[in-house]
Amino acid sequence: MPPSLIAVAEREEPLRQLPVPLPLAEWLAGDGLWEVELGFGKGRYLLRRAQGEPDRRFLGVEVVSRYYRLVRRRMLNRGIENLVLLRGEALYLLATALPRGIAKAVHVYFPDPWPKSRHQKRRLFEADTVDLVLGLLAPGGRLFFATDFIEYGGRVAELLAGHPNLELERPPGWPEGPRTNYEMKYERQGRPIVRLEARCPEEAGLHPEGRPLVVAATARDEEDEER
Ligand SMILES: C[S@@+](CC[C@H](N)C(=O)[O-])C[C@H]1O[C@@H](n2cnc3c(N)ncnc32)[C@H](O)[C@@H]1O
Repeated sequence: MPPSLIAVAEREEPLRQLPVPLPLAEWLAGDGLWEVELGFGKGRYLLRRAQGEPDRRFLGVEVVSRYYRLVRRRMLNRGIENLVLLRGEALYLLATALPRGIAKAVHVYFPDPWPKSRHQKRRLFEADTVDLVLGLLAPGGRLFFATDFIEYGGRVAELLAGHPNLELERPPGWPEGPRTNYEMKYERQGRPIVRLEARCPEEAGLHPEGRPLVVAATARDEEDEER
């Protein structure tokens, strides 16, 4: 796999040469919260949002190099300067490099559903990954999620509904505005889509299903003390 890359307008750098958490605020003017899309694919939604709203700051993460390169080229050709692109695995980047609490909105549209049970640990929304995604949200921030994979949509709804610090809604559709490549295709086909929106009034904290999976090791554990 090629190294993780980050692109801001003309500039592109390998992630390993940058400090962590990534100093996003130094790269784009403005002090507002960010809108983040995880898995932007061919970038239709992200590019249109960024181009149409030059006063807002956008961040996109995509693991597939060819999509990253395509969207970077379009960003440069269109003169978009309020967008940061990251090529890399979202869960890895969330856990290691991205600052927390930076987003007024996190968009996850038609993420890979990983239907086989042995692959479900790769999902962006499972008990042990949901907190990494929600950790991007600032207090008052919103998560927007859509999938055509009904079973996964049900699982994500269950996870979000079980989070004590989230208010979950199931909108029948999104307001007028740009659509992702997949959403456009599926809307045309009349394919059922699960849409979820969740507001996070305060810092999200840990999900009750995920909390037992987080293990912290201390220098001395209780057994040492009993000896
Ligand atoms: C089914 S496509 C949907 C693309 C776009 N969101 C849309 O609605 O048109 C899922 C995208 O998410 C990307 N993706 C899947 N898992 C990812 C991960 N863990 N980190 C970053 N990107 C991921 C895939 O490479 C792919 O481009």
